[in-house]
Amino acid sequence: MISLANSAARRSLRTVSQVRTLSSGIDIDVDHYSSGWNIDDIGEFTAKTGKYQIKTFNKISEKGLARFKPEKFEIMGSDWDSSNANAILLRSHKLQESEIDVSVRAIARCGAGTNNVPVARCSELGIPVFNTPGANANAVKELVLCGMLLGSRRIVDGVNHMKDLGAQGLAKERVEKDKSMFGGQEIKGKTLAVIGLGHIGASTARDAAALGMDIVGYDPGLSIDSALKLPNEITLTDSIASAVSNADYISINIPYIKGENGTHGIIGKDVISSFKPNAVLLNFARGELVDSEAMKEFLDNGDGRYVSDFPDDLLWDHKNAVVLPHLGASTEEAEDAAAAMAADTISDYLQTGTIVNSVNFPAVSLPARPDGAIRMSVINKNQPGVLASITDVFAKAKLNIVQQINQSRGDVAYNVLDIDPTANHEAFSMKDLQKELTMTDGVLSSRVVFGTPGCGYARNIDGQYWV
Ligand SMILES: NC(=O)c1ccc[n+]([C@@H]2O[C@H](COP(=O)([O-])OP(=O)(O)OC[C@H]3O[C@@H](n4cnc5c(N)ncnc54)[C@H](O)[C@@H]3O)[C@@H](O)[C@H]2O)c1
Repeated sequence: MISLANSAARRSLRTVSQVRTLSSGIDIDVDHYSSGWNIDDIGEFTAKTGKYQIKTFNKISEKGLARFKPEKFEIMGSDWDSSNANAILLRSHKLQESEIDVSVRAIARCGAGTNNVPVARCSELGIPVFNTPGANANAVKELVLCGMLLGSRRIVDGVNHMKDLGAQGLAKERVEKDKSMFGGQEIKGKTLAVIGLGHIGASTARDAAALGMDIVGYDPGLSIDSALKLPNEITLTDSIASAVSNADYISINIPYIKGENGTHGIIGKDVISSFKPNAVLLNFARGELVDSEAMKEFLDNGDGRYVSDFPDDLLWDHKNAVVLPHLGASTEEAEDAAAAMAADTISDYLQTGTIVNSVNFPAVSLPARPDGAIRMSVINKNQPGVLASITDVFAKAKLNIVQQINQSRGDVAYNVLDIDPTANHEAFSMKDLQKELTMTDGVLSSRVVFGTPGCGYARNIDGQYWV
């Protein structure tokens, strides 16, 4: 539970507060934006030093962390007393609410799933949670391509046979003679059906086409980004059954979703009955997508294959199955790519207010802050009237909003606003403005996305003001 009584956090925040005297003779409390300051001060204000503090859990790839510019970001490991953390970066650590300090503005998971983060609670607290969709897509796609070859050539059986022969001292003697036991087929000229044309499916389709395969695809939710990656020659179908009916290989690349209208057992008896008798099913998505009993029956009765990186109690030792450990995303490059994407997302959010790849906040991007403007962001409950109250605070301070964006998702709404302070020629109190804004009914937090890194964050925690 985040608490205002987090005295360690408050104490250490005070220690980073710096009071500077500007050339105009006005004192500015950098942390709290106290005092009146006007447009003339902005240049000097942005020159103040400070760093965003990023707390990491788990070992995060160095290549990823290197994306944080050292002059603006400080990386702190999990043994660090995180009371000043501005953002959290993690992999599989199960994040407890008590580890989310009151100073945390954002959390990023290096990976696709966010089950280890209390996302619903973060939404209530107004904290965006980010993930890294597609960062491991190349790693998985390469294993799918490898899976096609494993499913075509009895490579695993051949390797095991060689080991047995070698152990008996017969390797050289039998190596040529026994090769007829492990014949296979080529993938060139064969048909691959790709079910789910997202990050992994679209690149699998593209690269398989480059290997000379004919591609059939099915994805009722195909995105424009993915469509642009598809090979020119692809046949799109309107059902899984029609996609698989003439396919030699079938790659399933869809999410596992439990419950009604979900994808549990989506490759079941009905779909499998449309397979060619020697079809190869590649499942590098989730074990639960495939009905194991129906698949076993198919493997028992024909010359089809099942290749997967998900354990399966019924299929793991079937002679026509190749079941690997869950290796799809296990490459150095995938870890680097996920950490780099998470670092870029956090750094962009902290420095510009932009939101991409959030699992609980809307995607929001405002063009670059015009010179001389002050950028602020506000997170509020998605309730009628709050937006009007927010803009009213600026209107009362005679501050013109030059550009603004407001988007909502579920129970939260997010605003980014650029304010032109020149409309008001009098010095105004940023501290008072931020307090009024933050304590507006329905507002959860506000941020001055401008100036000294790490400063300018204020929260409304159950009616109490926290800076
Ligand atoms: N083996 C591994 O280590 C590994 C690693 C990463 C991801 N994955 C799995 O791969 C899946 C795909 O990953 P991605 O990055 O391509 O995801 P993605 O979100 O980019 O793409 C998923 C696609 O599936 C489509 N889809 C959803 N339901 C469908 C359905 N019923 N029929 C057809 N299409 C459907 C969506 O419209 C989307 O285009 C993930 O959900 C995950 O389960 C496995």
